Amino acid sequence: MASRMALRPHGVTPPLAAGRGGRRNGSVRVLAVASSASAKIESKKTFAPPKEVHVQVTHSMPPQKMEIFQSLDGWARDNLLLHLKPVEKCWQPQDFLPDPASDGFHDEVKELRERAKEIPDDYLVCLVGDMITEEALPTYQTMLNTLDGVRDETGASPTAWAVWTRAWTAEENRHGDLLNKYLYLTGRVDMRQIEKTIQYLIGSGMDPRTENNPYLGFIYTSFQERATFISHGNTARHAKDFGDLKLAQICGIIASDEKRHETAYTKIVEKLFEIDPDGTVLALADMMRKKIAMPAHLMFDGQDEKLFDHFSMVAQRLGVYTARDYADILEFLVGRWKVPELTGLSGEGHKAQDYLCTLAGRIRKLDERAQSRAKQAGKMPFSWVYGREVQM
Ligand SMILES: [Fe+2]
Ligand SMILES: [Fe+2]
Repeated sequence: MASRMALRPHGVTPPLAAGRGGRRNGSVRVLAVASSASAKIESKKTFAPPKEVHVQVTHSMPPQKMEIFQSLDGWARDNLLLHLKPVEKCWQPQDFLPDPASDGFHDEVKELRERAKEIPDDYLVCLVGDMITEEALPTYQTMLNTLDGVRDETGASPTAWAVWTRAWTAEENRHGDLLNKYLYLTGRVDMRQIEKTIQYLIGSGMDPRTENNPYLGFIYTSFQERATFISHGNTARHAKDFGDLKLAQICGIIASDEKRHETAYTKIVEKLFEIDPDGTVLALADMMRKKIAMPAHLMFDGQDEKLFDHFSMVAQRLGVYTARDYADILEFLVGRWKVPELTGLSGEGHKAQDYLCTLAGRIRKLDERAQSRAKQAGKMPFSWVYGREVQM
């Protein structure tokens, strides 16, 4: 039977930026690293905004559990890789964009720009934020390759886990490409500011708090694929409302990829629940207690220190991605993994189960309060739309 050990840190290193609060495991070690960290902090400032990240917990999965993932390689080959699409059967960004080699290119661009004229700034801000999130893909491939037992050890490793990660990345790469080219052609957004935001974001990385632990990592990716499926689905729906059916198609086709990826990642976690219910329920509770950070939470455009918060407020107000969606995703995953029906759990496992089964309701209550706050929020200028003010 799995124990709480699954979540106990084996190594704790201090955050890159001077952290406030956080765990103080092995304070001597923290102090020793702190003096040599000043140079690191200086170099971080040059390339990324001085955002704080949590105390970095590493390798929280006990080494003996690594064998679970090694022994699941055959399972992953048979059950995971089938959720990838062969390249020859995949859509490509060019399928949804004006063909620069065709005589009709200029007319098609003109039509695209006519349609895009109807798109309001607040919707553009959401679409740009989604595109920037997709464009920080190097960070997400890195994140997957931090996970013990499943990482791509060489860059061309033949394990099913590594094959999945590379092919998943290759599929995802089309999302940012398509949105980027579409937004460029609309002429409605400040591409230079957007490109700077992408550069800052990739330079900043992300802090998903998955601790090199594939239990935590695959719970995180399950959650995120569903979150992006929902948000791209909502931007598709809104584009239809503005009469831009091509844009609706673009957002919809990306959402369908996210759905396929969600199916794959939730299948991995389903398998972990089957093999190790106690360890997996503890991992899910741990991720939810820490809260699932959005992948682009460290975004910065060189101007707005709270850019991600402001983007999130617009997305919340427009209903592109809301606290209610967060609660719905949790509830969906708890049902998908049959958390309420788990039996034979340890005392801690039971507590985690209870916590998870009532959490969505509590988040919805918080959401009601957030909604009332959102009504009082003012306007903010966004550099992505040439500093025009957008309602929060
Ligand atoms: Fe994506
Ligand atoms: Fe995705």
